[in-house]
Order: sequence, then structure tokens, then C-alpha cells
Amino acid sequence: ATSARAQAAGFAFTPIDIATDFDIHVPEGYAWKPLVRWGDALWSEAEGAFSPETGVSVEMSDKVFGENTDGMELFEVDGKQLIAVNSEYVNPKINLPADSEGMPKNADEVVLLKNLQGVTVMEVADQGEGYSVVVDSPYNRRITHETQMTMDGPVAGSDLVKTNADPEGMSPKGTMNNCGSGRTLWGTYLTCEENFNGYFGATGEFTLTEGFERYGIGGEGRYAYEKFDERYDLSKEPMEPNRHGWITEIDPANPDSTPVKHSALGRFKHENAAMTQTADGRVVVYMGDDERGEFIYRYVSNGVYTEGGSTDGLLSDGTLYVAKFNDDMTGEWLALTPETTGMELAELLVHARMAGSKVGATTMDRPEWIAVNPLKSEAYCALTNNSKRGSEGMPVNAANPRETNDYGQIVRWRPEGEDHGAETFAWDLYVMAGNPAVYDNAYGGSDNVSPGNMFNSPDGMAFDTQGMLWIQTDGDDSNEGDFAGQGNNQMLVGNTETGDIARFLTAPNGAEVTGLCWSADKKVAFVGIQHPGGSWPDGDGIPRSSVISVWREDGQAIG
Ligand code: FEO
Ligand code: CA
Ligand code: CA
Ligand code: CA
Repeated sequence: ATSARAQAAGFAFTPIDIATDFDIHVPEGYAWKPLVRWGDALWSEAEGAFSPETGVSVEMSDKVFGENTDGMELFEVDGKQLIAVNSEYVNPKINLPADSEGMPKNADEVVLLKNLQGVTVMEVADQGEGYSVVVDSPYNRRITHETQMTMDGPVAGSDLVKTNADPEGMSPKGTMNNCGSGRTLWGTYLTCEENFNGYFGATGEFTLTEGFERYGIGGEGRYAYEKFDERYDLSKEPMEPNRHGWITEIDPANPDSTPVKHSALGRFKHENAAMTQTADGRVVVYMGDDERGEFIYRYVSNGVYTEGGSTDGLLSDGTLYVAKFNDDMTGEWLALTPETTGMELAELLVHARMAGSKVGATTMDRPEWIAVNPLKSEAYCALTNNSKRGSEGMPVNAANPRETNDYGQIVRWRPEGEDHGAETFAWDLYVMAGNPAVYDNAYGGSDNVSPGNMFNSPDGMAFDTQGMLWIQTDGDDSNEGDFAGQGNNQMLVGNTETGDIARFLTAPNGAEVTGLCWSADKKVAFVGIQHPGGSWPDGDGIPRSSVISVWREDGQAIG
């Protein structure tokens, strides 16, 4: 049952109303169920490991699905379907005993928290309604703070990444705060390390460098890891934070493969990684740095990728650029090189933010996910919100036009000559989120926002094969004041030709919606529900972050 208006805009569903409850809602004719919840077993030895009162024990913590699901991608390997999925962070208050007051009291509790983050690779299979996880699949894998990695590109082996445990600076351990995702053209997973800074603290003297300050590192760690594990102690391992904040590549088809941190793609608070190609076949990766006033980046390889050809050097040998959005709606990619920045190559990659400032990049309203239109030469970035826009050092500009921007906008750029390798582009705003029921000025949003489809804080985004842009939100779900009438966080579908936007799903109160991929036949969408409130989805006990399956009851594809 699709309304005539929704059909005219190309939507295969009737948009739904807002919700304020602790449940999931999808359009009429669609169904959903949890696919996998925090604490669900990946191997049979962990069946029943989850307690609705106390969560998971340290012994079982790397044998279950992690907490706070985020970016994910589906891969077809030998006729199997594998999902690689991030667990962004843990909620210490939920995971630790009540008397710990949200801070670990011993090394075991640190291990528990570390194990519930990182990446899960899991086989899923269509065993009836909406798929199931294949427990004990040989492809199942957990990747955590402790997993051995390698590093490639210009920073590998540099003094900036040498530690007592790794004096060569080639073998970092672990990936953390894995936020958004990406996939390579050659079928591997890209996991993006975002708020890594919060894991480091100091138990003694350390030097607060310009780099630490720019990345928010120093003082007390948010999780007290440094008290029980020297690796996180700035007074013992001052270079360890430089080994995090990278794009890390994982081969889901090979459970024994060693993940690779790609230093050529720059170090910042990575949201996701959107890969495409230049007209002449070089690899392009678009990336956002999610912090108020930070930048949008582009990496372009020197080598060319052809299907089935060598991938050597494609993510280690290239140039990193940063975006400048001019007020006349043109833009340019500014190369970050020793010549343009006066910094050595390894230094400018480790401190990409400082390099970007030197060349005059445009400060943005928190760049979250970037999505490349598969049908057209253009890319979109969700600029989620920016409470500091208009304050010192962050004046309004045409792409970030509102002071104290609580609603966010989605910027889109079209490269010159339809070539993602071009040095220049034209840009516009696909949507400015807002509340037209409260404001009749710029805070009411752009023309394609109405009381019937409004939302705030766009974050996750993905294009489906039909060229529809799916938009997920991570915003204020109080449904009050400036956010009255917007309800819980949600997932909407945007027609990027007509500008129409329609609400498809609402999340339980407290949750953000983040992470989206589809089954190989596109009949099931997998959607991430992070930090839900209430007792979702079990109906009693502590809330559990989960990936859900959503499908059409008539069996048609939904993406
Ligand atoms: Fe982890 Fe910027 O979201
Ligand atoms: Ca996000
Ligand atoms: Ca967000
Ligand atoms: Ca989040």
C-alpha cells in the first residue's frame, strides 16, 4: 500500500509518522526482527552467555556479538553471505558491576570493555524470515583492541609510531572506536577509527603536544584503561595514540588475515570511507572527520585498479587532499604534501588536521558519513550538527550557513568533468534539516523539509542500487522545544533527483540508527540500532544494541 504522492516520488512505501516509544516502526507491508543483539553467541560455547541483568562475562566477551553496533557491509564469499560490522564503543555503566560506577576497577574489567568493541565478521543465512547468524561458521571472527595488525604507507616505521612493544613501528595492535564503514572495489572491509582519543590517559608526567591538543588527547582517560594497561598510558607510551585514528582494512574472506592500517589515508576521527574511482581508474576514498569544525578529505591513489587486477599500493601510495567549499558554490581539493604544508610526509598524515588547517580547508559542521551515488558522478556528506558554528574560528560560510546549528544539513558535490579525480567541484545543499513547525527562517529547514518528514542530525547514509539515498539520524529525540514533532531517531529515504524525503523507520527512544547494508538479493535490509533505551528489544532487562532485519512481506526487493 503506497500512497499516490509517495509513488510519484519513487518511494515503494507509504511514509510513517514519528514515534516516541521504545519500539521499531516500519511502513505497512514491511516487517522486522532482531538479527543479532549485543551478547549473542558467535560460537556455540558462548550460547547463553548473556545475562539480562549483568551482560557478558570477561571469559565470553570475545565470543559474542559486541556492543553498540555501527557501520557494516555485506560480502559474498564462496556462495556464503558475510557481514562485517563495527561495535563502536561500550557503555561501561551497563557492562560493569553496579558498584564500579562506570569505571573499571581491575585489568579484567578493562579486557571486558575492550573485547566488546571492534569488529565482528559473521556469516548470515536465509533460514526463513529475515536471516539468522550462522553460529560456529568458520568465517566468524572478532577483531578487538588486542588483534595484531600491520601498518603500511608513509607512516609505517616512522618514529611517530614506535613504542616499547613495537620498536620498529610496523605492528600496531588493535582497532578501536570503530564507527562507520566502507568497502573496497576488491571486496574487503574498511573500518574507520573515530573517537580513539578517549581511551588514552596519563598516570604520570607527559608532554601535552600540539598534536595531542588538536586530537583531544591528554589527562584522564574516559575509561581508565591507562590505570591497568600501560599501552594506554601517555606517560609510558606517548606514541601509542598515533597508531589509532586510521582506516583499517580487513579481509572477511580470510579469518586468519592480518588487518592493515592504511596510513596514506590520514589520521583523524574517521567517520566512514566511501570508495569510487577517477575517470582513469585510480582509487578515490572520500572521508569525513567528525568533530565540530573539522574537514572533509579525499585520497587518490597513484595506481589504477582494474577488476581482478593487483591491489598493491592502492591504499598506501597516493595523495591526501582536503576540501575547500567556496561561498560561490564552487570547491577545490587542496593537496596535503610536504610542499603545501611545510610538514614531513609522515608528520602531515599523523596530524592531518594540522596539515588541513595550514592549507586553508573549510571548517565543517561535523562531517559524518559520505555516500557516492552509484548512478551519477556526485557524493553526499551528512553534516550532522555544530553547536559551535558562529563562534571564534568557526564563522558561518555558505556550506555551513547557520549559527548554533542544531539540525544539520547534507552537502553534495559534483566533480568537474564528472571525474572524481578532478581538482575542483560544484556543490549545493541537498537538504537543510530543520523544524518548520517551530521556525519560519533558516532553522525551519530547506524546501524539501516539512512537518511530515522532519528530522535532525543526519549521520549514516547509503545509496541503494536504485539510486535512492537512505539517511539515518543520531540526534535529539526529546520531541520537545526545537525538536518538537521530530520524535525518535529515524531512517528516511531521499530521492536525490526530486529532493523528496520520506520517513521509513523509527527507532526506539534513546537509540540512534546507524549502519545499513542489504542481503545479496536485496530482499532484506540490515539496519543498526545503537544505544537503545528502555528494555529494547527483549522487553525486560538491560537494553541491547542490535542489528535488525527489515523486509517486504510480499518478498520484493527493498534496495
Ligand atoms: Fe561515530 Fe561520528 O559517529
Ligand atoms: Ca555516526
Ligand atoms: Ca553522530
Ligand atoms: Ca554513535
